[in-house]
Amino acid sequence: MSATRKVHIKSYGCQMNVYDARRMADTLAPEGFAETATPDDADLVILNTCHIREKAAEKVYSELGRIRLIKEAARQDGRAVTVAVAGCVAQAEGQEIIRRAPVVDLVVGPQSYHRLPDLLDATRAGAVVDTEFPVEDKFNILAPPSPAAIRARGVTAFVTIQEGCDKFCTFCVVPYTRGAEVSRPVMRIVDETERLADAGVREVTVIGQNVNAYHGDGPDGRPWTLAQLLYRLAEIPGIARLRYSTSHPRDVDDTLIAVHRDLPALMPQLHLPVQSGSDRILDAMNRKHTAADYLRVIDRLREARPDMAFTSDFIVGFPGETDADFDDTMTLIDAVGYSGSFFFKYSPRPGTPAADLGDQVPEQVKDERLARLKAAIDRDLTAFNQRSCGSRMDVLFEKKGRHPGQLIARTPYLQAVNVMAPDSLIGEIRTVTIDGLSTYSLFGTLITPPHSSAGRLLAEAGA
Ligand code: 5AD
Ligand code: SF4
Repeated sequence: MSATRKVHIKSYGCQMNVYDARRMADTLAPEGFAETATPDDADLVILNTCHIREKAAEKVYSELGRIRLIKEAARQDGRAVTVAVAGCVAQAEGQEIIRRAPVVDLVVGPQSYHRLPDLLDATRAGAVVDTEFPVEDKFNILAPPSPAAIRARGVTAFVTIQEGCDKFCTFCVVPYTRGAEVSRPVMRIVDETERLADAGVREVTVIGQNVNAYHGDGPDGRPWTLAQLLYRLAEIPGIARLRYSTSHPRDVDDTLIAVHRDLPALMPQLHLPVQSGSDRILDAMNRKHTAADYLRVIDRLREARPDMAFTSDFIVGFPGETDADFDDTMTLIDAVGYSGSFFFKYSPRPGTPAADLGDQVPEQVKDERLARLKAAIDRDLTAFNQRSCGSRMDVLFEKKGRHPGQLIARTPYLQAVNVMAPDSLIGEIRTVTIDGLSTYSLFGTLITPPHSSAGRLLAEAGA
């Protein structure tokens, strides 16, 4: 093996890219690559890109401009730097990236990460582009993380269980960049989660572009639902909390609602994007549900688990969106009472049906709507956090806080809480009283003494 080389991976966009970046690092570790936090001393720089909106895609090219200077400077010092572009821009633009940014040595799409070592070798003879959709399951071939790498990443982890999307919302590039829906087999996910749990992970978020469309092969030879998978993962010793993301409202079936009622390890927080509250716009977006359908799903989940907290994604300024359509979105927001959300101005993406629609909404109107939407979501987020004040909650201690003696923990609803607590509590679940709040986080006080194990048992039993 060669002497240690350094790789810097910068990820943009969604949780899937965060997960993929880790698996790329795991695949490069046996090749002698150690991760570095900056591109300045790296021998290999990987930009793990996002193509979802124009702004995200353009960031890659400005970053490549900076990296070109780093590469030049290194060359003058007699050091070679390899530059790779991975992720969805790589998949969507391929060769075009090398034409626009000749500093790039390798363009690698999300389905080819397991081939990284070979592809890097091949760059010695010139630039390489690999954006194939191979038939083999890359997850079976990608190297697993070492226990030390897992520990360094903390007590929460993502596990990809599904990739790709068959929904074809008219604004979205994902079905083109990530391809058709593919689910990983149940036992592969169980193995990966067991390995994480053995190294100290307590909370797993299973992820996929359409995670609740999961239908991977079960050990009984039949396809399992997400609900079945969640029950199985909850059996793994050490796994105290489960979450899943991102869901489509149309794939929330009865079995999934029942898990929210019956499985204490499944946290009562759900990211369920609706995009718009207008039926006319939902139809034009090809979402295949109405605002009322969505609200029914929310109601049913709240019947099953009354304290459920919801977040969503919203797009403002989809082609043809009128003031009345936007008002429908504001009405839906009031009806749900979100605990937070993401919101975006519509960005026409090449190759998607909505990009060719007439009646594009002027930028200024998008800006105004975005500001109103943000104000409504901020108001609801603050109200949600204020309602938490004074209550007791079981929190998972994740990492050190900004101030000495302080840890950052998460409530079941994914709120960050700052608590004065010893480092030994990282990875533990304890009950705290929430006694203050700032804009985006809460303050809490431990009520169970750090040295008693009773706190954790009580907390895990949902007491
Ligand atoms: N323009 C703006 N936002 C978009 N999203 C997806 N495609 C676009 C687009 N073309 C948003 C959606 C999706 C989130 C991941 O990104 O809200 O849920
Ligand atoms: Fe994109 Fe729609 Fe698929 Fe989500 S469901 S990834 S928004 S096409």
